[in-house]
Amino acid sequence: MGLQIYDNTLRDGEQAIGVAYSSTEKKEIIKKLTRIGIKNIEAGFIAVSYDEQLAIRDIVTKFPDVNIFCLARMCKQDIDLAYNNGVRNITIFTCASDELLKYKLKKDESQLLEDIKTCISYCKSKNMFVRFSCEDATRSSVERLKKLYKCAQDYGADFASVPDTSGVATPERIYKLITKLKKEVNIPFSIHCHNDLGLATANSIAAVLAGVEEVQTTINGIGERAGNTSFEEFVSIMQLIYGINLGVNLKGIVGLSEYVSKISNIPIPVNKPIIGKHVFSHESGLHVKIVNQGNTHCYEPFDPREINRTHNISFGKHSGIANINFLCDKYDIKIDDESKRKVLFEIKNNHIYQKGISDIDVLSIIKHLQ
Ligand code: KIV
Ligand code: ZN
Repeated sequence: MGLQIYDNTLRDGEQAIGVAYSSTEKKEIIKKLTRIGIKNIEAGFIAVSYDEQLAIRDIVTKFPDVNIFCLARMCKQDIDLAYNNGVRNITIFTCASDELLKYKLKKDESQLLEDIKTCISYCKSKNMFVRFSCEDATRSSVERLKKLYKCAQDYGADFASVPDTSGVATPERIYKLITKLKKEVNIPFSIHCHNDLGLATANSIAAVLAGVEEVQTTINGIGERAGNTSFEEFVSIMQLIYGINLGVNLKGIVGLSEYVSKISNIPIPVNKPIIGKHVFSHESGLHVKIVNQGNTHCYEPFDPREINRTHNISFGKHSGIANINFLCDKYDIKIDDESKRKVLFEIKNNHIYQKGISDIDVLSIIKHLQ
């Protein structure tokens, strides 16, 4: 199978501090995701609340053509709850590292293997599609992971999910881990990265290079603590840099990202890769000169029109005559070179640049000089 995206905005994304979507908002996110080509969506964590169960039940009925998953602990109680709310695609998780086995699950490896057998067989007896996930996989021994995923495979799991739960992995480690696991386990693999060290996107790419069939992302990278692999970053990198077509319409990602930012009440930082307000803006005169010549690719990773964005020219301490030329062209203003130099002098020397300076500010400087 090719590479696919599994969107986790509605579950891990919702675990970002202060975020709780209404059922209507969850459905709106799903509509927007499916419109741009996403087919696998984790709608929530079944055990969270009664409202969550109602929302999941509603979503499963309203989106029969989307692969709606829900997260469940590896226990009969959660599996039943999911099944009884109409869920047929489930992601069940358990613990894998020594620490979590000891302090959270309070079970040993052999009990864990028993639980895997029982729970996965139970899901399969109900004809469910099962993604099996090992929490804290990146701090577990590879030998144990092999045993757990192999056992899951033997009892019918359809997908193996590898979470870097605390965001501690690095690209080389992910690459090696996935390579080793894929040699032993013959079901498709999914990677689920957290961004605690700022490596979630890089780690997801490493997993792709090692052969995973699926990457889990969230819109704007929101999620537990520092969040998850950013959907916008990952899909843009895959489609525009690696040339791997994920079937995502990149022109729709900005609208989706703005919507999720609004309902999550989490602003998008101006320098956030791909979607931040400033990432296709140029202030430095040297750069603007090149952009004015039409050679935008010299200082941009790709053409912003690919994602339905445009270049923007800003003004400040680092501006040059090219910035003034750009503004004059934009507003069809004719001033001589001496005036342009004076405008630039004003911009560079009266310290307003420290607060950011808009087109309107520069237009007003020009007006006052005339
Ligand atoms: O990061 C993680 O380990 C998770 C699990 C619940 C799958 O989100
Ligand atoms: Zn997670």
